Amino acid sequence: MDIRSEFLKYFESKNHKIYPSSPLVPEDPTLLFTNAGMVPFKKIFTGELPPESSRATSCQTCIRAGGKHNDLENVGYTARHHTFFEMLGNFSFGDYFKEEAIEYAWEFVTKVLELPIDRLWVTVHESDNKAEKIWQKFVSKDRIKRFGDKDNFWQMGDTGPCGPCSEIFYDQGVVRFNGPEDYLGGDGDRFLEIWNLVFMQYERNEAGELLPLPKPSIDTGMGLERITAIKEGVFSNYDSSLFMPIIEEISNLAKKEYIYKEGASFRVIADHIRAVTFLLSQGVMFDKEGRGYVLRRILRRAVRHGYLLGLKEPFMYKLSDVVAEIMGKHYTYLNEKLSTVKEQIRAEEERFYQTIEAGMRLFEEELSKTQEVFSGEVAFKLYDTYGFPLDLTEDMLREIGLRLDKEGFERLMKEQRERAKAAWKGSGDMALSGDFKDLLGLKNEFVGYEKLKAKTIILAILNEDFKRSEKLKKGEKGWILLEETPFYAQSGGQVGDIGEIRVYEGENIAKVLDTQKFFDLNMSLVEAQDEVKVNEAVEAVVDKSRREIAKHHSVTHLLHSALRQILGEHVTQQGSLVEANRLRFDFSHSKALSTEEIKKIENYVNEVIAQGIEANIEEMSIEKAKEKGAMALFGEKYGDIVRVVEFGDASIELCGGTHVKNTAEIGSFFITKESGVSSGVRRIEAVCGMSAVALAKKWRETLEEAKAELKAKDLLLAIKKQKDEIKRLKEELKNAAKVSQKELKSYEIGGVNVIVDEVEAGDIKNIIDDIKNANEKVAVMLFQKKGDKVLIAAGVKGVSLKAGDWVKKIAPIVGGGGGGRPDFAQAGGKDPSKTKEAKREALEFVKKSLN
Ligand code: ALA
Repeated sequence: MDIRSEFLKYFESKNHKIYPSSPLVPEDPTLLFTNAGMVPFKKIFTGELPPESSRATSCQTCIRAGGKHNDLENVGYTARHHTFFEMLGNFSFGDYFKEEAIEYAWEFVTKVLELPIDRLWVTVHESDNKAEKIWQKFVSKDRIKRFGDKDNFWQMGDTGPCGPCSEIFYDQGVVRFNGPEDYLGGDGDRFLEIWNLVFMQYERNEAGELLPLPKPSIDTGMGLERITAIKEGVFSNYDSSLFMPIIEEISNLAKKEYIYKEGASFRVIADHIRAVTFLLSQGVMFDKEGRGYVLRRILRRAVRHGYLLGLKEPFMYKLSDVVAEIMGKHYTYLNEKLSTVKEQIRAEEERFYQTIEAGMRLFEEELSKTQEVFSGEVAFKLYDTYGFPLDLTEDMLREIGLRLDKEGFERLMKEQRERAKAAWKGSGDMALSGDFKDLLGLKNEFVGYEKLKAKTIILAILNEDFKRSEKLKKGEKGWILLEETPFYAQSGGQVGDIGEIRVYEGENIAKVLDTQKFFDLNMSLVEAQDEVKVNEAVEAVVDKSRREIAKHHSVTHLLHSALRQILGEHVTQQGSLVEANRLRFDFSHSKALSTEEIKKIENYVNEVIAQGIEANIEEMSIEKAKEKGAMALFGEKYGDIVRVVEFGDASIELCGGTHVKNTAEIGSFFITKESGVSSGVRRIEAVCGMSAVALAKKWRETLEEAKAELKAKDLLLAIKKQKDEIKRLKEELKNAAKVSQKELKSYEIGGVNVIVDEVEAGDIKNIIDDIKNANEKVAVMLFQKKGDKVLIAAGVKGVSLKAGDWVKKIAPIVGGGGGGRPDFAQAGGKDPSKTKEAKREALEFVKKSLN
């Protein structure tokens, strides 16, 4: 039975409009991730938006790994917690209420799913007589339980729509479940909550007050994983067909049998790979903060469990194939993104595997010293140096029943944050605590595709800590929100715009230092040069560097398609930076590029530029874009309407960035560097436009300078001549050293050739080497004056005398010190006038030690 489609079909037959799952990253700054089926409909519940249809149904992908609903810690250790799951739901927006909600749910569960009635129990909120009464039509009174707010009041987050709820439970039977927690409402696995019916009546505001919604509504949620397990007659979600193929593959890779009781690590990995694959496929990337950091935490937690199973090299990326096999039919974008996603996972695993071993050693070491509380300092070091997210360390401690000195950790973290704050740029955790929520809903339109100047109004100001402010005084920095903004906010690798804010037709009042996106707000960081006030009418002017940025962005697209043409289709973008005077492009490719390949790529791009191809930029549905062959890149948001940037046959990509109107504007393109980023990922750095001109100019100047320096018209000829000359001089020098060798003073002492002398020219170390090569038994010490210093070097071969001892004895005579190995030693002295005496002593020393 395909439960997903049965569910949607059933509610469609009850006049519900079917909605596709909306993205995991919601358009809602109060949430990290979509954590329930109702999230995409929040504004409809609150009355901010009118509904398209007063009844809706969906199968929504959700993540609960942060914020109010966070199941991360429990995953793997219970039969039913997940970070990623699918929620089936039906919604009424002021249409039906409790009566029909209960009726529909009961009919679906008993008639469509055909679950046995004698296994079903329900709960209602302790105050909800009405719901209990309705339920009594279907189940006997002793099967209806009343619970308080903790169990039977649901809310989306700290704020947002909420209400009392009623839940349907499935009793898995007493046979395998008779632990102390196996009662209805307990933490055991016997009674599975399968469906939550929320009677949406309130909205909780920031002050924590409950305000009535305009119309009582219905929001329900049934976890697909649970209901699948029940229908398949297995006891744990993880035993169902949604997870078992993944677990089997883990077992293959680890060469270990999966046994339920000891299988937590298998389950953690099986759960986490689903979350990771979905998040990456939808464009979330591994990051140091915000959502990308949650993603990193999930992956690293799984990798560590793999490590526990004996997997000592990247393995997670291989499991993505299985996820796509199980889910790709319904979520087709998984198949489309699979190769890119695998690359991203592998690269992230690679990064963590580099430090996990050393990190685990440090952890074990500290553990052996720990009584009860694990050091916050070590946890910080694990975090900072070895990339262990805090909750990973906490996880490891929980497994063995130890606590962490979290305050110690937080203190060090805070200190580090303070240090970083100066250099800090936009978004992430810090932004989540700011006053952005107040600004949502204000008009804020990006007009910079068409124009670089806009007459507009400052709608709001946030200070550097993201708190609301009415004005900025001269010299102060802060973020401004413009009604219409021509400034492009950093995105997809393209840097944020800079520029100026002027009063109409007048003076500059602020410098724009950067532009960033916070949630959906496009805001510019400014430094006030005069007072800047809310509601002021201003002219916003983008710096002319934007034109150069556009050139570098367009040429990045051309480079991308050149790489795929010349190196192959396996090339996928791994990261990109687009600035006014350079670009950087990271892509998957296993080996360094040859000079030949680099030339070909450069030529290909320059030819496309020279063809003067018009840009064609259009918005269209994602389906149409794919039909046209647009490269589906990560970074774009999975959704309905996308922006497609096309340069004839040369390139077509989904992109929100700013571009040239015609490739000819790009001018020329030079690759300045090719290097490796991590295994399997290469990086190209390049320039175009005025930066390419500047680079060519610099090259010419350097050539001119070199010619002047060499006093030559033909540089290559001059260099060749110089090389020949150097070769000849070296030869001469060598001969000179050989000649001087013959003239050195030598003595025959006890069958050993002893040489002690002073040489004027040549490298005394080389001379000593030559002497040693030419003799079986030899002890040689040479002196060489260099200005007001004297060098001493000694070599010994085939005799018991140690060169190091010899030099140590003699060097002090010329005001120096030193030593070395038994066969060679050297030193320097500051008193060349004592050389003669030193030579005498050197000879004496040899005589004494050899006789
Ligand atoms: N929104 C409700 C839940 O997530 C249905 O349980």
